[in-house]
Amino acid sequence: MACKPICVCLLVTIIAGAIVGGILFAAKSMNKKGVEPSESHKHNYVAALKIAMQFFDIQKSGKLVNNQIKWRGDSGLKDGKEVDLDLSKGMYDAGDAVKFGFPLAFTATMLSWTILERGQRMGMEGVDQLQKAKDSVKWITDYLVNAHPKDNVLYVQVGDAEKDHKCWQRPESITDNKPLFQINTTAPGSDVAAETAAALASASLVFKKSDPPYSAKLLEHAKKLFIFADKYREYYSVSLPQVKKYYNSTGYGDELLWAASWLYHATQENIYKDYVVGSEAEEFADWGKPSWFSWDNKLAGVQVLLSRVYFFHGKDNTKLAKYQKSAQALMCTLLPESPSATSDRTNGGLIWIAEWNALQHPVAVAFLASLYGDYMEKSDNENLECDEKTFKSEDLREFAKKQADYVLGDNPNSMSYLVGYSKKFPKFVHHRGASIPADATTGCKDGYQWLESTKPNPNEATGALVGGPFMNETYIDSRNNSMQGEPTTYNSALLVGLLSSLATSSQSVVTSLG
Ligand SMILES: *[C@@H]1O[C@H](CO)[C@@H](O)[C@H](O)[C@H]1NC(C)=O
Ligand SMILES: *[C@@H]1O[C@H](CO)[C@@H](O)[C@H](O)[C@H]1NC(C)=O
Ligand SMILES: *[C@@H]1O[C@H](CO)[C@@H](O)[C@H](O)[C@H]1NC(C)=O
Ligand SMILES: *[C@@H]1O[C@H](CO)[C@@H](O)[C@H](O)[C@H]1NC(C)=O
Repeated sequence: MACKPICVCLLVTIIAGAIVGGILFAAKSMNKKGVEPSESHKHNYVAALKIAMQFFDIQKSGKLVNNQIKWRGDSGLKDGKEVDLDLSKGMYDAGDAVKFGFPLAFTATMLSWTILERGQRMGMEGVDQLQKAKDSVKWITDYLVNAHPKDNVLYVQVGDAEKDHKCWQRPESITDNKPLFQINTTAPGSDVAAETAAALASASLVFKKSDPPYSAKLLEHAKKLFIFADKYREYYSVSLPQVKKYYNSTGYGDELLWAASWLYHATQENIYKDYVVGSEAEEFADWGKPSWFSWDNKLAGVQVLLSRVYFFHGKDNTKLAKYQKSAQALMCTLLPESPSATSDRTNGGLIWIAEWNALQHPVAVAFLASLYGDYMEKSDNENLECDEKTFKSEDLREFAKKQADYVLGDNPNSMSYLVGYSKKFPKFVHHRGASIPADATTGCKDGYQWLESTKPNPNEATGALVGGPFMNETYIDSRNNSMQGEPTTYNSALLVGLLSSLATSSQSVVTSLG
């Protein structure tokens, strides 16, 4: 597991922000030399991107194909057997061997969004990462399709997290049957069903040209899952209380809007557009109140994705305008010079919201900022108005770059939090597979000698983005420090999104999304 339940912290409202944030910000900016960018590209975003992409190979379950990771092998081959399903693929969530459907689907959605916006010639394809990214998406979507055997049944977890966490062993050496968890009409889960719909709808666009039958299959599953999610409304953590401790969902309205937004992009059908501007929007959209973007809360993603529709095709739609205004309000909280700038930052300028897996939030919003800036630029909307101050898309890009640079080493520890990048990075990552030599034969309990070992991991978890620093910017590189030192698959997906954005010129934004 990598996640303690994370409260969805709302940012300061405009009013509170103007009073509190404004004062804090004024004090802060006087202390600093200035938030001006360092002009030179000190970091190699392409190299970092290629590294981050490798983490998906490390997390794969199932029968591996062209495996490039020496210390990984086949695992989970029997997953799903007892219900005659092949649930062998998919990816492990973090340093364990559980396949958690909710964050896994989010991983696929983020990778797909990245491919759609940053995939082409000047982007991922130009640096030879497009095919690899598509393969990673497919490794997840193959699993998600199989996990949806009937219209109103979705398997949302493989493996008992409680049990898994009482063992320290490589996924390859697990022989016990892993329990399966499903949602259905008597035990529904709108959040996880809708996130899975979003993943499959966005992925259907990824494969639209290269594999039309597969794309059509993904879209069909997406549509059915959306109906299931919308018709049987419930939190999956109510239906399956055991998930609360790991990936508790704090709402499903965000996922319903997110799924509908992706289905709209995938189909161009008005029913989905009507959904995001209809009565559900009034209920769920929470316009005007910025929120942090994460595996739990997708509202900021919805706002940015629908700003895209607003900027390019929907200027006359007042509801779409509300999404765009909300996205703009979030952007204004991110820019450090803005009157409504959030004070949730470290001294070094990193957006910092939560102790557990701290880096997910800055990386996620930096990705959104880079996209929003490109949407502005491409649609000839030059100005980002934050109260009395006006910013440009370059300011958003600079913000995104600064968050990435912090992650890659511009921090008080001069350490890269991306494993494998630069000379100094975490060596005691909380990851069972990385910590146990591939030829060791350990079972559940005797594997703990590898957790307790004082030596660095024998295997490098290349591409892992660890949880990251405390608010005071310290980081303890210790294997048992799962709060700071456990990577997650969705962290890497978010980072791939951000790095792809920085590795490409802003000219390359979108063709595939139309
Ligand atoms: C529906 O899902 C719940 C929760 O996973 C499970 O206990 C129940 O057996 C399922 N119902 C059917 C008919 O399989
Ligand atoms: C899970 O989310 C629900 C809905 O927001 C919330 O009421 C509950 O307190 C959360 N549980 C945990 C363990 O965080
Ligand atoms: C690791 O951390 C957990 C939770 O803090 C603790 O219960 C356990 O004893 C620690 N194990 C070792 C080997 O330090
Ligand atoms: C930094 O913050 C952590 C977590 O709050 C705390 O345990 C640690 O003592 C702090 N370190 C310093 C040097 O202040």
